[in-house]
Amino acid sequence: MSSYDVIMIGSGPGGYVGAIRCAQLGLKTAIVEGRDTLGGTCLNIGCIPSKALLHATEMLHEAEHNFAAMGLKGKAPSVDWKQMLDYKDTVIGQNTGGVEFLMKKNKIDWLKGWATIPEAGKVKVGDEVHEAKHIVVATGSEPSSLPGIEVDEKTVVTSEGALKLGKIPKTMVVIGAGVIGLELGSVYARLGSEVTVIEYLDGITPGMDAEVSRTFQKLLTKQGLSFKLGAAVQGVEVKNNKAKVTFKMRKDDSEDTITADTVLVATGRKPYTTGLGLEELGVEMSERGQIKTDDHYKTNIDGIYAIGDAIDGPMLAHKAEDEGMAVAEGLAGQHPHVNYGVIPGVIYTHPEVANVGKTEEQLKDEGRAYKVGKFSFMGNGRAKANFAADGFVKIIADKETDRILGAHIIGPMAGDLIHEVCVAMEFGAAAEDLARTCHAHPTYSEAVREAALACGDGAIHM
Ligand code: NAI
Repeated sequence: MSSYDVIMIGSGPGGYVGAIRCAQLGLKTAIVEGRDTLGGTCLNIGCIPSKALLHATEMLHEAEHNFAAMGLKGKAPSVDWKQMLDYKDTVIGQNTGGVEFLMKKNKIDWLKGWATIPEAGKVKVGDEVHEAKHIVVATGSEPSSLPGIEVDEKTVVTSEGALKLGKIPKTMVVIGAGVIGLELGSVYARLGSEVTVIEYLDGITPGMDAEVSRTFQKLLTKQGLSFKLGAAVQGVEVKNNKAKVTFKMRKDDSEDTITADTVLVATGRKPYTTGLGLEELGVEMSERGQIKTDDHYKTNIDGIYAIGDAIDGPMLAHKAEDEGMAVAEGLAGQHPHVNYGVIPGVIYTHPEVANVGKTEEQLKDEGRAYKVGKFSFMGNGRAKANFAADGFVKIIADKETDRILGAHIIGPMAGDLIHEVCVAMEFGAAAEDLARTCHAHPTYSEAVREAALACGDGAIHM
């Protein structure tokens, strides 16, 4: 039996980042992982592989649509699907191997297998029981399907199966116009699949700034995706490798069907805590299956903590990472703090979509007076040169104090641009602080400054 200060269960971004922080702070640490490779959903079947396919297909889109206009003549490349999947697998291998290297470098033991917690202070992996002063559950989440749908990961797939389809489908139905549905729907639309997205609500990307959401839908429609909004999927029937999706329009209860080669179920994710033995231990859970914790990520059982997708909050890798660092620092006697008001969200489509802080809709509900500064990428020289002038930056600031309350960007590199607003918000900045900061020309970031200027006396290039 080996004994540790901390055992992290799960090696996704929450668990492995937390483990590294524990080790850096002098805690003897082990990480439990039952997959063959470290990195969890994010590195193996989520963020990283999907970004590889998004990158490859974006290059294809560029070649097909913009090369000729720039004087780059010749046939657009053809797609070797197997090679594209191999490239994606290589990227996964590099990243998971990188995490393994980091574990060794930080002298963190990898306990291979699936963990159960027989009692506080003990973690069982295979036949071995290990002791730990503190146990952190970082077991993440899994796709949640709908009643009437049986996922076989071939014809009816979740995000996992969608990353390794045997061939590019001619037709695809995506259920759910959230992050996964739109990212993977974009991948297949660029590869030539006819993609129909069925969404229960009347708009895409629920919770997002409504103006961004409308613009996003228009741009995706231009790229060939079609949308059936206000449609509740009732079930999927598979016959002869074809799937028939039945849905009901919410406005009049009329029923309709679509048949497709592949159906991607992207209707959300749920915490994954199976087999840990939490129920037997009496760990309190919410109705949605999330582990309940206090502000220090401690469960109701002393010595057992939880972070990431398994607890409340947005299911985002970077949120889990921050919680991983925070729980480690807390266990080492520090006083960490995660600012949940400044957690960016990014959708890695083309253009990208990114947001942080409050939306106009939320501020209206709160009855808070605000002002909006908006700037279109049409006014940004760099974006025009790069065929990337679709979209805009919107900064929302307090009407009286000018303090930045949120930012919503749809456009080139939105997922990177958002971070200057995040930093500004962490410093409690006013829109004027951003507006008075010199931004290099020509960069996309000038659009952020211009939106900040638009909160005051006005943008220059509009
Ligand atoms: P989601 O919650 O973002 O979207 C699910 C969508 O399905 C919603 O719009 C919902 O209204 C719709 N829906 C539910 N039931 C339906 C029905 N019967 N018929 C039609 N539509 C229905 O969930 P998604 O996209 O599966 O993502 C899961 C989680 O993973 C999210 O928390 C997301 O933030 C995270 N994620 C984040 C990524 C990123 O940061 N880029 C990438 C991938 C996932």
